[in-house]
This record gives sequence, C-alpha cells and structure tokens, in this order.
Amino acid sequence: ALTQTDRALVLALWKKMSTNVGIYTTEALERTFVAFPSTKTYFAHLDLSPGSSQVKAHGQKVADALTLAAHHLDDLPDSLSALSDLHAHKLRVDPANFQFFSHCLLVTLARHYPGDFSPKMHASLDKFLGLVTSALASKYR
Ligand code: HEM
Repeated sequence: ALTQTDRALVLALWKKMSTNVGIYTTEALERTFVAFPSTKTYFAHLDLSPGSSQVKAHGQKVADALTLAAHHLDDLPDSLSALSDLHAHKLRVDPANFQFFSHCLLVTLARHYPGDFSPKMHASLDKFLGLVTSALASKYR
C-alpha cells in the first residue's frame, strides 16, 4: 500500500503536471510502441505515426484515468473497475503490457522532471502505477 509519503509525492507531481498529464501519457505511449513493439498490435486500427492526433486523443483518455486514480488512492479497484472490464474482456490486453507502459511512463516523467525525480519519487510512482496495474488486471480471472 502507499505510505503517506508516497501519496504526497504522487499528488505533488500530479499537481505540478497540472493540465499537461496528457502530453506525458501520449509521449509514454509513443515510447511504449517503439521500445515494446508488440504493444502496437492492440492499436492496429489507429494511426500510430509520430505526432498522430489519434494517439494524442488516446493519451488524453489514459491521462484522465490516471488522474482519477491519483485522486482515488484508497479505492483504486472500484474506481478502475469499468476500465478493468474493458481491458480484460473486451480488448483482451495481456496484463504484461501494463508493465511496459508503466515503465515507459516512468522514463518519460524522469526525463521531463529530472529535478523532482528522486529515488523516493521513483519508488512512489512505481508503487502507484503498480497499484493501478493490479486494479486494471483485477477482472482477468
Ligand atoms: C482504451 C486506460 C494501458 C490498450 C483505454 C481507455 C482508457 C484506457 C481510459 C479508453 C476507454 C474508453 O474509451 O472508454 C488505460 C490505462 C492504462 C492502459 C490507465 C495503464 C496505466 C493499456 C495498455 C494497452 C491498452 C498497456 C495495450 C498495450 C487499450 C486499447 C484501447 C484502450 C486497445 C482501445 C483504444 C481505442 O480503440 O480507442 N485505455 N489503458 N491500454 N486501451 Fe488502455
């Protein structure tokens, strides 16, 4: 579970990102498609070229879900329940992909916020994304 310090660090970065969360999730998606090309198979119906407006629109949806999660740290499984159903039953996304994306989001945030990205921040964000991933994967069985 997240400690008070974890929560404070995650929320502080979210506050700092303000309305730019979508920019970073979009960049993280683009990074995921390059670093882990198998992830692209789920998005064969979208234009995945760099700067694609479709990836940008999708990145904003992911950003909104993560922002919601950051503000529901005590009830993540409930808050992400519908999204878990979607990814598990409709989209059939292998949960390993959540780890690829989480990794790429960490790298993206570290590049944009080097001054904030202490080892403690790294650990807290990793825990947060791990909990989001568990919540998203909770409907798989
Ligand atoms: C759609 C969130 C990771 C594949 C979505 C949507 C959200 C979302 C909010 C839009 C749902 C809607 O339109 O109602 C997230 C979050 C993730 C995550 C928060 C991790 C932190 C992934 C990963 C993959 C994936 C790793 C596959 C590699 C998809 C696909 C769609 C989708 C294929 C449908 C896209 C479309 O046709 O528009 N996701 N997602 N997601 N997600 Fe995820």
